[in-house]
Amino acid sequence: MKTRPVKEVKARIQQHRKVGVDYFRLRLLCPEIACLAQPGQFVMLRVNEQREPFLRRPFSFSRIFPCGDKRTKLEEEGTLEICYQVVGRGTSLMTQLREGQRVDILGPLGNGFWLEEEWKRVILIGGGIGIAPLIAWAEKLRARPSKRRKLIKNPAETPEVLVLIGGKSREKILGIKEFRKMELEPQVSTEDGSLGMKGLATDLLERELLTQGHTAVALYACGPMPMLAKVAQMADQFDLPCQVLVESRMACGVGACLGCAVKVRDEGSMKISKAEELTTGQENIFSESEGPEAEMTFPEGSLMPVISEVPPFRYVRACKEGPVFEARKIIWE
Ligand SMILES: Cc1cc2nc3c(=O)[nH]c(=O)nc-3n(C[C@H](O)[C@H](O)[C@H](O)COP(=O)(O)OP(=O)(O)OC[C@H]3O[C@@H](n4cnc5c(N)ncnc54)[C@H](O)[C@@H]3O)c2cc1C
Ligand code: FES
Repeated sequence: MKTRPVKEVKARIQQHRKVGVDYFRLRLLCPEIACLAQPGQFVMLRVNEQREPFLRRPFSFSRIFPCGDKRTKLEEEGTLEICYQVVGRGTSLMTQLREGQRVDILGPLGNGFWLEEEWKRVILIGGGIGIAPLIAWAEKLRARPSKRRKLIKNPAETPEVLVLIGGKSREKILGIKEFRKMELEPQVSTEDGSLGMKGLATDLLERELLTQGHTAVALYACGPMPMLAKVAQMADQFDLPCQVLVESRMACGVGACLGCAVKVRDEGSMKISKAEELTTGQENIFSESEGPEAEMTFPEGSLMPVISEVPPFRYVRACKEGPVFEARKIIWE
């Protein structure tokens, strides 16, 4: 497996702004990471110099401004942006970071989004702060052909991009201005109806797929797990390729602690049998039987067959094999 460079940088904070009730945007000067970063990848950020909190926190790139891009303003060259929501101790401490200060970041980490040539129309679905990495992805998709060369075989063809943003209320809707600058008009939903359609981002998606068709469409989603599971289910229903950015809890971010495990389908021959779980009373007992996904077995002491619908599975690390995954590979529980 190819190892990709990861840098540890003391990035200078160029800008730190409040952009919503509990949303903040940090612009960091770190050309070493900005020139390698791809949408969907992330950095691990040390929130302060103290030992508490000890662990760095993971954040996706919401904007990437590499050096040498003619469209980038001089002051933006070599910078990265992250948008974060205050949810706990680490993110509360981050709000105290000041412009001009330096912050320790490690990245770029993980695997980002990708595009296949046959996907002519892409739909980006963001829930709450989950829209952040999709801003960077939309920017890449809308970039000049030469900038998309690494992305697709035929960079001259720009896919059509539709953006769907959902949030609890209007204060939780981020990115509209950024998308409009890309000449994209996002569709918005809020749970309380304070902006856009009353409902969920997945309601917008359902309406779109039912009314506008779904030929050559691919889905990209980031947001809370129930939203991702619903998008994955709709991708299955409409038979669409779908990538999701999974924000599992992370401790190390570099593949060492196994703390970010995601349960995925094991497409090899290994199979777990529900009946064996029942007879042994243990979990994670693998039988090597092959065959169709549903398996009929007779547990010891029982005359009734048990149909096991548990697909063969394994765990992968979101920080290494993800955080972007094909939705159909994940076992949504
Ligand atoms: C790859 C990746 C990219 C991410 N990108 C962003 C981003 O761009 N913007 C952003 O705001 N957040 C992002 N997150 C989530 C962010 O890392 C967490 O919100 C942050 O680490 C919380 O730190 P804390 O110390 O404030 O919260 P803690 O004190 O650690 O936890 C506070 C509360 O938040 C919950 N929580 C903590 N981490 C997560 C998580 N990963 N998912 C769901 N709930 C969590 C805890 O269960 C707890 O209830 C990302 C996570 C990953 C793994
Ligand atoms: S966070 Fe440690 S292995 Fe992924």
